[in-house]
Amino acid sequence: MVDISVPLIKFAERSATSRGVRQQCTFLVSSAEHIGGLNDDSVDAVTTRSSLAYVADKNAALRECFRILKPGGRLSIAEPVFRDNALAAALMRTRLESGEKDPEKSILPFLHRWQSAQYPDTNEGIQSSPITNYSERDLLQWAQTVGFRELHLELHISVTNSYRKSWETFLDSSPHPLAPPLRTILHERFTAEERKLFETVVRPMVESSELSETDRMVYLTALKPPKGK
Ligand SMILES: C[S@@+](CC[C@H](N)C(=O)[O-])C[C@H]1O[C@@H](n2cnc3c(N)ncnc32)[C@H](O)[C@@H]1O
Repeated sequence: MVDISVPLIKFAERSATSRGVRQQCTFLVSSAEHIGGLNDDSVDAVTTRSSLAYVADKNAALRECFRILKPGGRLSIAEPVFRDNALAAALMRTRLESGEKDPEKSILPFLHRWQSAQYPDTNEGIQSSPITNYSERDLLQWAQTVGFRELHLELHISVTNSYRKSWETFLDSSPHPLAPPLRTILHERFTAEERKLFETVVRPMVESSELSETDRMVYLTALKPPKGK
């Protein structure tokens, strides 16, 4: 088990102990970009779940996955894809900057203020943030470039009506661990009058489940070729 966070590794270790499988596990505090403590060609399988999304250099992390796998070893990753959310925020910014007709009469400035607090909204910001500096195609290409073969990628996109019907729950949720919750954004970026207006428009949509949410997850499996192949 590899993670850069000491608390997360301690939590995982406690969890393994309580399930009686502690002896089967090794816990390493390390960055995925440089996995200290694992030799070349030493593990049968590598799997990540919502972890590469927070790693700045995903190409380096995939190179490390390839390095530590035995020939014939398998990779399985599942990661969220947030780039489209950031592109939507960037489009809002462009529309506002281009002086779109009567933007102050629409809710667009508020939506942009909200979304741009949770996602980068410039090309530069999108490229420099770990959570948006990749698409599913980038992951596929990087995995292939570092040497993986027999690659298989599935992109799952779910558009659902929000399950968060409670306004209080909605205020306290955020789409990923690096994003502040809406409550914080309203407190820090909106005046009292703007907060009231925002709530007047958005709260009924939340409470009637009118708001839809789009989740994107990429699932990629691949093989480190056996020796001589
Ligand atoms: C959303 S959590 C997922 C944790 C776990 N994989 C799970 O499914 O419950 C993201 C994890 O990525 C870890 N992380 C962030 N940057 C990392 C890096 N450069 N190398 C390794 N782990 C990293 C964080 O510490 C965090 O535990």
